[in-house]
Amino acid sequence: MEFNRDVKIAPSILSADFADFGREIEAVESQGADWVHVDVMDGHFVPNLTFGPPAVKAFRRHVKTVMDVHLMIAPVDPYIDAYADAGADILTAHVEAGPHIHRTLQAIRGAGMKAGVALNPGTPAEAVAHLLDLVDLVCVMTVNPGFGGQSFLDMTDKIRRLREMIGDRETHIEIDGGVDPKTAPVVREAGADVLVAGSGVFRGGSVQNPSVYGDNIRAIREAAEASNPYPFNR
Ligand code: DX5
Ligand code: ZN
Repeated sequence: MEFNRDVKIAPSILSADFADFGREIEAVESQGADWVHVDVMDGHFVPNLTFGPPAVKAFRRHVKTVMDVHLMIAPVDPYIDAYADAGADILTAHVEAGPHIHRTLQAIRGAGMKAGVALNPGTPAEAVAHLLDLVDLVCVMTVNPGFGGQSFLDMTDKIRRLREMIGDRETHIEIDGGVDPKTAPVVREAGADVLVAGSGVFRGGSVQNPSVYGDNIRAIREAAEASNPYPFNR
């Protein structure tokens, strides 16, 4: 996985057909997805339940790009090895998930994965100020996590601030929640490079009609690429 700050679209399979994950993953990848985003929820850290390690391991067989696993669970540490074994390339934990996020991020890298840290909308950029040398990705939530299809919350100031704090580090800024062709340029301009989109990609398409996924991915990518990312637009 070579680092760059090009726009990357990461469809969230939370919006896929839950009876057909293998073909859904293959459909979005063949239609231009750069990464595949997997939302793990525990019914405790967030009010919804999704995928345990065996499900994620089954998805892995179909992912040819990058499997980006977003843990919305607490605690995190007891499950790190299981998600490594499931084949996660990137494992992201929430800074709000427990008192020892520093240890969690060290353990994720120690298990051979790229480490990500996610921030809820109410959490300031400064919460990760002392973690930036431990992570490969910072995920800025632009909805309160738990469900797909919620409306976008503007976190522009936080994204710009993080982009400044990251400086020359090879750290991705990922945006998660409410990404569509209208919001994509806003977050790109603030300095984001990875755009997660659930409903924005899967809306209107299906494994029988995958070209809609391609149209949706292209529309988000083109809208994002039309803006010049911070700090180059100062
Ligand atoms: C929200 C999840 C997101 C979600 C995004 O808790 O982390 O990844 O699937 O869905 P959309 O793009 O529909 O807002
Ligand atoms: Zn997510």
